[in-house]
Amino acid sequence: MSAFLWSADEDLPDIVKNFTYSIDEDKELFYYDILGGIAHTLTLYRGGIITQDEAKAIIDGLYKLKEKKDIDFYKYEDVHTAVEIELTNLIGEPAKKLHTARSRNDQVALDERLYIRDKLREYLTLLREIIKAFVDLASISLDIVLPGFTHLQPAQPVLISHHLLAYVEMMKRDFSCFYSMYQRLNKCPLGSGALAGLDFPYDRFFISEILRFDGPTNNSMDTVSDRDYLLEYVFNMLITSIHMSKFGEEIVIWNNPLFGFVKISPGYTTGSSMMPQKRNPDIAELIRGSVGEYLGYLDTLVVMAKGLPLTYNRDLQIDKRVIFRASYSFIILLKVFKGLLENIEFDREKIRENLKDEFLLATDLADFLVNRGIPFRSAHHIVRNVVFYCQEQNRSFSQLSKDEWKRFHEEFLNLSEDFFSFENSVARRDTYGGTSKNQVEYQILLNRKWLEESQAQIEKIASISIEELFSSINL
Ligand code: ARG
Repeated sequence: MSAFLWSADEDLPDIVKNFTYSIDEDKELFYYDILGGIAHTLTLYRGGIITQDEAKAIIDGLYKLKEKKDIDFYKYEDVHTAVEIELTNLIGEPAKKLHTARSRNDQVALDERLYIRDKLREYLTLLREIIKAFVDLASISLDIVLPGFTHLQPAQPVLISHHLLAYVEMMKRDFSCFYSMYQRLNKCPLGSGALAGLDFPYDRFFISEILRFDGPTNNSMDTVSDRDYLLEYVFNMLITSIHMSKFGEEIVIWNNPLFGFVKISPGYTTGSSMMPQKRNPDIAELIRGSVGEYLGYLDTLVVMAKGLPLTYNRDLQIDKRVIFRASYSFIILLKVFKGLLENIEFDREKIRENLKDEFLLATDLADFLVNRGIPFRSAHHIVRNVVFYCQEQNRSFSQLSKDEWKRFHEEFLNLSEDFFSFENSVARRDTYGGTSKNQVEYQILLNRKWLEESQAQIEKIASISIEELFSSINL
């Protein structure tokens, strides 16, 4: 039997077969191709296009094929060919009707959408778990104040919980990007044919419903050429990986003994082959390094998609090289990131030791003057002079005498004893979304609510298994 659906393959040189076959990648769609085949057969039967006996033979055959372990995929051009020819080998004549009212163009669009839909569920679940891990860590770390940076220079004190919740915001956006692409993705392509629609009584709303799509796609030409959902899919991975890479970098910095803010448990560090004393934050580094991979995938997809005339063009097959690899590494990235998060511990003592620099409170001093009627620009200038003075003398704010303060501004005499406490500085930043404990606790509360609501969103993502589809069949 030929390895092609369209003619004998003898004419193609091996190098051309290698170049054109997609089976190496798209065998990953085997399960979804069978799932789509069962739903398609049901729709053919419903339209009176095939008989009940034929439908039953095809569906039973596809069900058996799903369990077949010894398929030699590599002799086929692609997964659709493999399924149809293997089915023919199993059940004979009725299999030849499976491709009625279907083209590989709408078939591959269906398979990819079913595949991505399942992946979205996995990603959303893992993203939610990561967000929960961040929120949990933030809730037990409310007592830790650390220097916040701009330009990686000590800037102002912040709660470490506030810092962690910044990542919660990033990853909630990632969650919502993946969730919103689901709404555009969840439309059923089948019934579009090769490009123009069908001249069969094929109920596209019926097949959409049994495969749990929100409805059929609206334009058969767009349907067989659209890969926007793959661009979104990989772009969302890219942004998520950027967020994770930022955290990876912070862990690398915080784990450096000169900082010593965070300890990573041995399972999430590795040793050096030469220097016996070392434990390296390789896992955080690999997370930091992951972004380029997704950028590369996105690059491939963008170049593939640009300038293609309607409708299907074989260039579109190149997407297979990207999406399975991208999906494979992204799921590992999410799992490892979650693992790292669950395997770090803040070193409260070290963080406290690092929090000695009273210049972190220079803005507080300027704000103190502003609250007593001095214009901010003048206050900034005055405090800058205090900082220069202290730096010259190698002293800190709280070491200055009343007399010295008075030389800079009378109002400084009203500074309270505990003004230079980092905790008080944090508590003063009490605007909505600020770092005060009050505000951070409120955000933790909101995030706990988000965690409940997002669980319901994940449950809304449709999925269907062959078993469910099969058991709902009443031929
Ligand atoms: N392997 C092909 C792809 O991934 C399936 C569709 C083939 N369609 C065609 N008209 N040759 O794009």
